[in-house]
Amino acid sequence: MKVEINKSIQKDSIKICLINNIPDDIKDMASLLEFKIEDENILFLPEQNKIFVAFEQITQQNIKVGLAIATRKILATNYTKAHISIDSNHSEVVLGAMLGFYKFDRYKSKKTQKSLTLNIISNTIKEQEIIDNQNIAKSINMVRDIVNTTPEDFYPKIMATKAQQIAKENNILCDVKGEDFFISHGMGAIGAVGRASRHESKLIHLTYKPQNAKKKIVLVGKGLTYDSGGLSLKPSDYMVNMKSDKSGGGVVMGLMNVCAKLKLPYEIHGIIGAVENMIGGDAYKPDDVLKAKNGKTIEVKNTDAEGRLVLADCLCYAQDSINDIDYMVDFATLTGACVVGVGSYTTGIMGHNDKLMHRMVKSALICGEYATSLPFNRYLKKQLKSEIADISNTASSRYGGALTAGLFLSEFIEEKYKRKWLHCDIAGPSFVQEIWGVNPHGASGVGVNMCLEFIKSLDS
Ligand code: BES
Ligand code: ZN
Ligand code: ZN
Repeated sequence: MKVEINKSIQKDSIKICLINNIPDDIKDMASLLEFKIEDENILFLPEQNKIFVAFEQITQQNIKVGLAIATRKILATNYTKAHISIDSNHSEVVLGAMLGFYKFDRYKSKKTQKSLTLNIISNTIKEQEIIDNQNIAKSINMVRDIVNTTPEDFYPKIMATKAQQIAKENNILCDVKGEDFFISHGMGAIGAVGRASRHESKLIHLTYKPQNAKKKIVLVGKGLTYDSGGLSLKPSDYMVNMKSDKSGGGVVMGLMNVCAKLKLPYEIHGIIGAVENMIGGDAYKPDDVLKAKNGKTIEVKNTDAEGRLVLADCLCYAQDSINDIDYMVDFATLTGACVVGVGSYTTGIMGHNDKLMHRMVKSALICGEYATSLPFNRYLKKQLKSEIADISNTASSRYGGALTAGLFLSEFIEEKYKRKWLHCDIAGPSFVQEIWGVNPHGASGVGVNMCLEFIKSLDS
């Protein structure tokens, strides 16, 4: 998608109008077509070259959603080349338009190349704001591509190759560890989960280190390129879409890409546990006891609670290999319970520092994502007790699963980092089988914009 500012309006250019009142000149047409002012209603009048998108209130978030709805409409028409224009002083129109114009057609035998030019009519938007928003949109769309790609085409080695590509493009560092490293470094948790897969597990470490960095931030992602559940096999209906279990890793890759592109003044590490959870003669089993990198032993009660095992070792690795961390944030499609608790559109934020959790929730709201904090308590922690090991990988009660998973991770956070750590359960919003807001069917890339906003807020 091409973006221009204040170019003269072309003859066939389609004007995007975001409205909270029906203009007089379309009142008759609107009533004929039963077009009302209700959030996200759309009316395309090709003979007038106008697309109207209705909102009860025209907020900054709705402007973004409006552009996404309008560009999506154009994607659905027969136009192969279109020009659109918008009167706005909000540079996020670029983000909305680019996120709406996203299409995942890798597996379609017939691909239609569509080109779209967005002309923004504005007297305040600067060129750099446009470039920044383009970079954010490209990074989110990259995450969507990663997550939508099938497990046959996207396995741990491919995730590592993709990370290396991001590193090369942005001139940042990328270090990849394999299973030998897990064995020699006592990382028995991540090592066990991927053992039955024909694809070797990888730990990917990306580092962006600008000069005079203000703070050190570590991002950790669950990159389960497929989660069959392992021997505690998922029922068929629950296994579908488990290619999306790499979303946390995808978010970390997207964030590394965008933070480097925006040249943020922070040292940022991205650590991804890329693993495939499969069945086979070599599979890890319920009843196994694993030893994580920090020496803690874990009784496996369910091999489908694999994300926390992978993250446990990744979190330990991060704390052992990086000094003086200021903030540590993990992203994971960790629990179905989080989706049950807060629905498909909301991220669950957990941690031991209310202020930090609140900052993340606020960052989500600022950028148009939904997040809510879920508070830990000591009673839930007791449910992770194991009779034979230091901790069990599942809780004794089936209630509060998002929190007990978060509390499990907390066992692998050193005391000095407890208040610097946040856990983001993105199991709901990372992959939704419907179009919602700026997001298409399937992978959303949720988490990138929220955390970017969070990182930018650390200055204040
Ligand atoms: N990847 C799943 C969680 C998930 C579920 C993500 C639905 C997205 C949509 C995770 O590995 C898992 O299977 N968790 C179990 C934990 C349970 C065995 C304690 C779950 O949520 O059922
Ligand atoms: Zn699982
Ligand atoms: Zn999983």
